[in-house]
Amino acid sequence: MFLDRPDSGEKTVLVHLVIDSEEQRDDPTEFEELARSAGASPVAYIGGTRRQPAPRYEEVAACVRANGAELVLFNHALSPSQERNLERHLKCRVLDRTGLILDIFAQRARSHEGKLQVELAQLKHLSTRLKRGWTHLDRQKGGIGLKGAGETQLELDQRMIRQRIKAIHKGLDRVRGQREQGRRSRQRAEVPTVSLVGYTNAGKSTLFNALTDAQTYAADQLFATLDSTLRRIELPNLGSAIVGDTVGFISHLPHGLVEAFRATLEETVSATLLLHVIDGVNEARDELRMEVESVLKEIDADQVPRLEVINKIDSVPDGEPGLLRNEAGLPVRVWVSAKTGVGLDLMLTAMTELLSGGLVSQTVILQAKQAKLRSHLYQSKFVTAEQTDETGASILDLRLPKAELDRILAQEDLQLGEPKSSRSGHSNSLPQVQAVSAGSVSGS
Ligand code: GTP
Repeated sequence: MFLDRPDSGEKTVLVHLVIDSEEQRDDPTEFEELARSAGASPVAYIGGTRRQPAPRYEEVAACVRANGAELVLFNHALSPSQERNLERHLKCRVLDRTGLILDIFAQRARSHEGKLQVELAQLKHLSTRLKRGWTHLDRQKGGIGLKGAGETQLELDQRMIRQRIKAIHKGLDRVRGQREQGRRSRQRAEVPTVSLVGYTNAGKSTLFNALTDAQTYAADQLFATLDSTLRRIELPNLGSAIVGDTVGFISHLPHGLVEAFRATLEETVSATLLLHVIDGVNEARDELRMEVESVLKEIDADQVPRLEVINKIDSVPDGEPGLLRNEAGLPVRVWVSAKTGVGLDLMLTAMTELLSGGLVSQTVILQAKQAKLRSHLYQSKFVTAEQTDETGASILDLRLPKAELDRILAQEDLQLGEPKSSRSGHSNSLPQVQAVSAGSVSGS
């Protein structure tokens, strides 16, 4: 099941002991993916549930010797003294889950702010571990857990670390000020912002690229994105919008990293619209979706309008593009493939609708010569009812995106009419809600 992909990174033993059922991280595959994301080459896996982990450490030591491993990764937190004792005992480098995730953050951070945030978290983590001897380790540059701040700060004493932390805080304040300014000027210009959020590996970067043609880093690794990156896109009938990609969510984020992760989501709270990208292939998608929702609630982003994007329909049997609307007729979910581009047109339509203040109702009177417009309105499923008056003109009740109505009114010579409720006579009522779902890709 594990470890079947050859790699060329550091030979690594993975240790996944469930010590306390409360802390249970029951997905060893995610741990292996994390390790690979950091560039490790897992050569052995030791798992199991043990209230008394000590005997297992003998097993780990034997495994390290047998495989000539250079690194042991633990999928739980270790105290500095535990880490030190284990390193002595195992005679190789030891890294816990926090150290591992910090390393991945360090590799992925792209924006100035993200890099500062990661360095800050690394320094805080490091300062608790400074007392331990690095003598047997400091020659191994460039290995996992020794990148970025870890590599250059090892020799620094606590005082210098404190100075650096202070400087980083200042730097962060400056960057935040600049970002806030950018946000305000966009608000003044009424440019809507769309933020892509979702669990790691859902396909946010791929979708971001598909939308913006930007070449951000997309890889089959966790955390391909750490920072918010912003790009401008043009939406049909609406004009410019700013799209932001954000860091992938992850379960069981070590405590000290939660703040750094949240900071990367600040942009999200002030977004006009959130696209919640969901991996349609992942069987745990419902749980992951709920985890994302609960973090959004914690950062007060749960009031921001949102569209769920079930991605990767190309990899799901019978997966088809689709658009689901709620009872009010607003789009709530789309099914797409960011990779093949299928369904992206529906997604853009839905985004336009949601950004243009949703749907509006309007009654229009069409003359017989406006058959082309009539057919466009029907094809777009904007018509909710139709009557014919004594002159043969069509009275159409429409429900459509405001931007689309504005566009039609600007282009066509149209007579506006009274809504159906204030008219008498017979009408052909049509269903208000067009709900299309994509077969087996439920996502709910
Ligand atoms: P993080 O940055 O780690 O949060 O990941 P992400 O959500 O940005 O995912 P990313 O775009 O890096 O995609 C993750 C993996 O899913 C990559 O291997 C993509 O090629 C793959 N992927 C993305 N979209 C699709 C899709 O529509 N279909 C299929 N089959 N694979 C996809």
